[in-house]
Amino acid sequence: MQKKKTEPSVSPFGGNKIAIIGCGTIGEALARGMLAAGFAQVGQVQASTRTPERAQKLHRSLGIVAGTDNRRIAEGADVVVLAVKPPLALTVLDEIAGELPARQAMVVSVAAAIGTAPLEQALERRNGSFGAVVRAMPNTPALIATGMTALALGRKVSHAQAELARHLFLSIGRTVIVEERHMDAVTGLSASGPAFIYMVVESLAEGGVRVGLPRELALELAAQTVVGAGAMVLETGEHPAKLKDAVTTPAGCTVDGLLELEEGGLRVALIKAVCRAAMRAGQLVSR
Ligand SMILES: NC(=O)c1ccc[n+]([C@@H]2O[C@H](COP(=O)([O-])OP(=O)(O)OC[C@H]3O[C@@H](n4cnc5c(N)ncnc54)[C@H](OP(=O)(O)O)[C@@H]3O)[C@@H](O)[C@H]2O)c1
Repeated sequence: MQKKKTEPSVSPFGGNKIAIIGCGTIGEALARGMLAAGFAQVGQVQASTRTPERAQKLHRSLGIVAGTDNRRIAEGADVVVLAVKPPLALTVLDEIAGELPARQAMVVSVAAAIGTAPLEQALERRNGSFGAVVRAMPNTPALIATGMTALALGRKVSHAQAELARHLFLSIGRTVIVEERHMDAVTGLSASGPAFIYMVVESLAEGGVRVGLPRELALELAAQTVVGAGAMVLETGEHPAKLKDAVTTPAGCTVDGLLELEEGGLRVALIKAVCRAAMRAGQLVSR
């Protein structure tokens, strides 16, 4: 796990063409992140969408070439980010595969629950290439460049390509490389996790309101407390139990709050939430 976002002074993408196919919420976050971090120049990034209106909006806001012709946008791309909805991923890859340079092209798919194997097969079938495929699972905080992305490397991804994929997602937060068998677990934890934490933030704020704080203030205190606590775990590298103990003075107020959380089953509820979400992730699309 990287401790910090590293931003190289030289673009990791060199002069590579990067095509974002299906440039919606996640695709746009990636395009913005890459450009803002200086990892890629405007002229290197192209994007496709279903509607011309969406393509025009992307062109106006980011300055990149954008259109609705997937094949034209993908033509000659060294890196393709496949960011359409999962049911479309294989069809769209099949459509564009013939346009990619056979030797060095890499496809990075963010489509949830679609394994690297069928994507590799689609690439090989249509383009006779090495079929280099990376599967990525980002989360929504990527929209404000504080995402957590897990990457699973397909069988034919070179070291240089893995580094490129890592840098792509470093521009929107932290990245880890995991074995593909862990992707459902990752989905249950870091992809679904923001929803679980929003509920925690909402409930903490509700507690603040219950003891008399104005709602807006309570929400700000709760949200920043979650940001700070998460950052403490990452920055110090300490076990959360040790950090918790440091807040908990003997016979103080925090221990009373902790007792309530134990009685309310917070730990078990969160553990079960991750397990259930991970299990469901495995059922979404057959791989
Ligand atoms: N959002 C998340 O938090 C999240 C997290 C992890 C993974 N993912 C994965 O990321 C992928 C995209 O999700 P999203 O939330 O970004 O969805 P989204 O906002 O709906 O974006 C999908 C984009 O695909 C475009 N599109 C639809 N059909 C197309 C086609 N045939 N050819 C080219 N483009 C087409 C749409 O164009 P129009 O806008 O013109 O309709 C839209 O811009 C999904 O596979 C999802 O599993 C999302």
